Amino acid sequence: MTTPQISIRNLCVDYITDAGDVRAVNNVSFDIGKGEVFGLAGESGCGKSTVAFSLMRLHKPPAFITGGEILFDGHGDILKFNDQKLSSFRWSEMSMVFQSAMNALNPVLTLEEQFCDVIMHHTNLTREQAVRRAQGLLEIVDIHPDRLQDYPHQFSGGMRQRLVIAIALALNPKLIIMDEPTTALDVVVQREILQKIYALKEEFGFAILFITHDLSLMVEFSDRIGIMYSGELVEVAPSKQILETPYHPYTEGLSSSFPPLTGPKTRLKGIPGNPLNLLDVPQGCRFQARCSKAHNACFSQSTQLRQLEPGRLSNCHLYNK
Ligand SMILES: Nc1ncnc2c1ncn2[C@@H]1O[C@H](COP(=O)(O)OP(=O)(O)O)[C@@H](O)[C@H]1O
Ligand SMILES: [Mg+2]
Repeated sequence: MTTPQISIRNLCVDYITDAGDVRAVNNVSFDIGKGEVFGLAGESGCGKSTVAFSLMRLHKPPAFITGGEILFDGHGDILKFNDQKLSSFRWSEMSMVFQSAMNALNPVLTLEEQFCDVIMHHTNLTREQAVRRAQGLLEIVDIHPDRLQDYPHQFSGGMRQRLVIAIALALNPKLIIMDEPTTALDVVVQREILQKIYALKEEFGFAILFITHDLSLMVEFSDRIGIMYSGELVEVAPSKQILETPYHPYTEGLSSSFPPLTGPKTRLKGIPGNPLNLLDVPQGCRFQARCSKAHNACFSQSTQLRQLEPGRLSNCHLYNK
């Protein structure tokens, strides 16, 4: 990995509700290098979006960040920013493409209004200059600049998604968080958009936190992957290695739940059991009840993500050396 663009250290996020206090993100630590694509994978409800929103500090009650640091190159700890610093930092240094972002555009405003809003709020550009910047952004995502006068409903789903990506790029951020950026689109359009994002990343050099439940897309487009299980990061590895030599039984289970990219068809096994009830977290490893390899230590000793070899981290007791 190159120099970290962002270092997340022991991030804890709790949902404080009437039913109880749920620790949805527990001591999560990882870095994303400059220009790197870091994929975050794991079953629905494991905490991926909670991490994403916390990095932008866009999380809302009942979610509260209860611990940790989010260090951004040259800016220090995002969690210590005051409102003014946060507002000038957000979108210009780090931006986000939300899940189902294609519905995030305002239906009653033209694209020109929406692009100029973002650009003029964060820069000293005049309206005319902002329009020119907006036209350039449309061209970047292969949409004709004349269409700046149009309204969101005049575009297809795939085009709307590209427009949201163009807005995320508007201020040349150094990190873009993409939470299920293409999930609502058909497979062919998904791939086209991801290829476009990848080409833009190569051109502009921003880093990406890429969240998708589609592990094969993630392996294809990420440099490294972190696997989350019930609020914890259980494994981090280069994407080329993670499915071939997983260092956590959960990763193994995940990889056998997805069809291989190449080779003969095999029967998919999946992972028996259900994700943990976060209101009732057992002592020891959070994956114990679903793990076919669980042994004594897994029921008594807490787990911690550790480096097993350069670039390979796991929190599994099996690999305790
Ligand atoms: N509004 C909420 N109120 C209470 N708990 C929540 C809320 N949103 C999320 N959670 C808890 O946080 C966990 C992680 O959710 P989320 O980050 O959305 O997961 P993912 O994006 O991986 O599907 C959920 O399993 C749930 O326990
Ligand atoms: Mg999510």
